[in-house]
Amino acid sequence: MICCLNPDCPNPQNPDGSHFCLSCGTGLVYLLRNRYRIIQPIGRGGFARTYLAEDIDKLNEKCVVKQLVRGQFYNGGGSDAQKKATELFEREAKRLQELGKHDQIPTLLAYFKENDYLYVVQELIEGQNLLQELKQQGVFDETKIRQLLNDLLPVLNTIHEQQVIHRDIKAENIIRRQHDGKLVLIDFGVSKQKTEAANTAPGTIIGSLGYAPIEQLQLGTAYPSSDLYSLGITCFHLLTNITPSQLWMKQGFSWTNNWRSQLSQPISQELALILDRLMPENHEQRYQSAQAVLLDLNVQPGLNPKVPHTIFSPEQLFQSRGRIPQQTNQSVSHISLSELLPGAVIVGTGSSFLAIVLLSFLGTTLISSGLWLIILGFLIFIQSRPLFEKSYLFLIALLTNLFIVFIFQRWQIINPLRSGINGLIVAVLLIILAGLLAFILLGTSQLMNKLMSKYF
Ligand SMILES: Nc1ncnc2c1ncn2[C@@H]1O[C@H](COP(=O)(O)OP(=O)(O)O)[C@@H](O)[C@H]1O
Ligand SMILES: [Mg+2]
Repeated sequence: MICCLNPDCPNPQNPDGSHFCLSCGTGLVYLLRNRYRIIQPIGRGGFARTYLAEDIDKLNEKCVVKQLVRGQFYNGGGSDAQKKATELFEREAKRLQELGKHDQIPTLLAYFKENDYLYVVQELIEGQNLLQELKQQGVFDETKIRQLLNDLLPVLNTIHEQQVIHRDIKAENIIRRQHDGKLVLIDFGVSKQKTEAANTAPGTIIGSLGYAPIEQLQLGTAYPSSDLYSLGITCFHLLTNITPSQLWMKQGFSWTNNWRSQLSQPISQELALILDRLMPENHEQRYQSAQAVLLDLNVQPGLNPKVPHTIFSPEQLFQSRGRIPQQTNQSVSHISLSELLPGAVIVGTGSSFLAIVLLSFLGTTLISSGLWLIILGFLIFIQSRPLFEKSYLFLIALLTNLFIVFIFQRWQIINPLRSGINGLIVAVLLIILAGLLAFILLGTSQLMNKLMSKYF
């Protein structure tokens, strides 16, 4: 068989020996660059066609050839969208060259222009993409979603460390490699260097609707957390088999606020909380790094059968008629150490500063404590954090400050802010000590929590 390279050909497969396509009449190319024999089409995206091919210089080793559909505009003419397509295509080649050494990213084999088309040749990853797997095997369960996250987050971490944002994470762009089951990230066409200016041509969509976060679609900007958002949406899609673009078109970006109502299978509270923090509309409320997600994913008891945290779908709740206990208390294990640490240190130092000011100027412990509780409680509880995180921070402040008050009384420190330079030094030392203590308290509680979830 020989494959027609006219991107618009409705039926590109032709018998060997043909010189012109039987379907569209285009002249057939037997070897691209005298080297790559195109076997059949395997993908048809917005601006590129993807083909399975073989490299005759490498004993007919199979490879993938991607062809830029609007290649004829390569020489500079054409509309903004066409120039953009060329730019994205070149970018894909560049990214593959830089990142393709990673085992879970295809290697770039060649990049060239022929017959007015641009081509990228890359390593073939044998296996199915996750959309095909979803269609064939049905929805993913929690174990498969956890494996996916554990497998892909380190890849995202690597590309983010190299200042690249993929910008098009979705089920179709992840292939499960047949020989070892590992997940491979493909389609770096819209990936972007973090430091490059956002210069999206008007009307050019970067990413896929339903999967792309608001900052990417509306402002053309992307952060590591933009890829994490798309990864969260991918997990949702695979868990439910509901196409995210459907929900997005009906409800806009706010659909992710109640994604749990779409679930048709139970998942653990731990995983649900991780998905909660991958998919907020506001990028500042998301996890900021793949590493932070991995930390939460593996700190938590997860699939430990003794931990009965489970999210139930609406139908299951209905069927159970209230027999399922409500999930009200959230254990400390759901708190991300890396994300809460700066908050804890700020709360520790800030609250001790407040305590020292109150004790120095008001003197009486009773009124000072009351004011301390009101001011600190107000400052912590107006923050946009989950309630259990706020309570946790409050508890850390309380413990830290009890320690400071203990030191005040033990060494009979009176009014350090009114005692000249020595008093000031004492106050600063106490504040630093409080920050350190908050740090130690949070670290220890995370460690104990980890040990407890491992052994009990
Ligand atoms: N390196 C590869 N190995 C195997 N299959 C691939 C490879 N690259 C792409 N494909 C297949 O071709 C499809 C389209 O390729 P992709 O790079 O995602 O292009 P598009 O920009 O059209 O989405 C993918 O969904 C995947 O099934
Ligand atoms: Mg793709």
